[in-house]
Amino acid sequence: MKFFVDTAVVAEIKELNYGLLDGVTTNPTLIAKSGRDFKEVIAEIAALVTGPVSAEVASMEFEGMVKEGEHLAKIAPNVVIKLPLTLQGLKACRHFTQAGIKTNVTLCFSANQALLAAKAGATYISPFIGRLDDLNIDGIELIRDIRVIYDNYDFETQILAASIRTANHVKDAAIAGADVATIPPAVIKGLANHLLTDKGLEQFAKDWAATGQKIAA
Ligand code: G3P
Repeated sequence: MKFFVDTAVVAEIKELNYGLLDGVTTNPTLIAKSGRDFKEVIAEIAALVTGPVSAEVASMEFEGMVKEGEHLAKIAPNVVIKLPLTLQGLKACRHFTQAGIKTNVTLCFSANQALLAAKAGATYISPFIGRLDDLNIDGIELIRDIRVIYDNYDFETQILAASIRTANHVKDAAIAGADVATIPPAVIKGLANHLLTDKGLEQFAKDWAATGQKIAA
């Protein structure tokens, strides 16, 4: 499973950008949190990472989405146009797919929505796990359903598990067969943690010190 980081904060991307990251996703909320100019920060991120960088349109109508998406796509070749899962967004998705521009269809909350996005030729579909869990609906079950549907018909659209909040979300999305997970920086860092790792390391350090040896001078 590929890892994208879900942030528009450049320092957070730099901190993780040593082989762990396959791409970046942003959304209007994350751009607002970064306090940066949208196009400037997307250009900076796209130059920093080699993988895809999702940048979301603000318009709700097809014409506006196309205009904004074309603008964003010109920033860098690895910019992916993020579009909402509405009929207008799906129409724009088809437009960009036909133009050879990659798309990420976002705010997906049902398997039927994911089916429509695949039929529109989306590069990525973003089902929001955490926001479904917030409503007591099993977000991971949605990933499982989409996996079955896409495999039934050999759709090439990649399942990008989004709205990931916990380490268990990452593990469960991987088990369910998500192609990608977009993960907040703190959750990515937390994946490396284990109490037994810390405990074992503490013991090794103590025992090593007792030998009085040095590996490198
Ligand atoms: O980029 C979309 C997504 O990951 C949002 O997550 O936590 O705001 O539901 P969240």
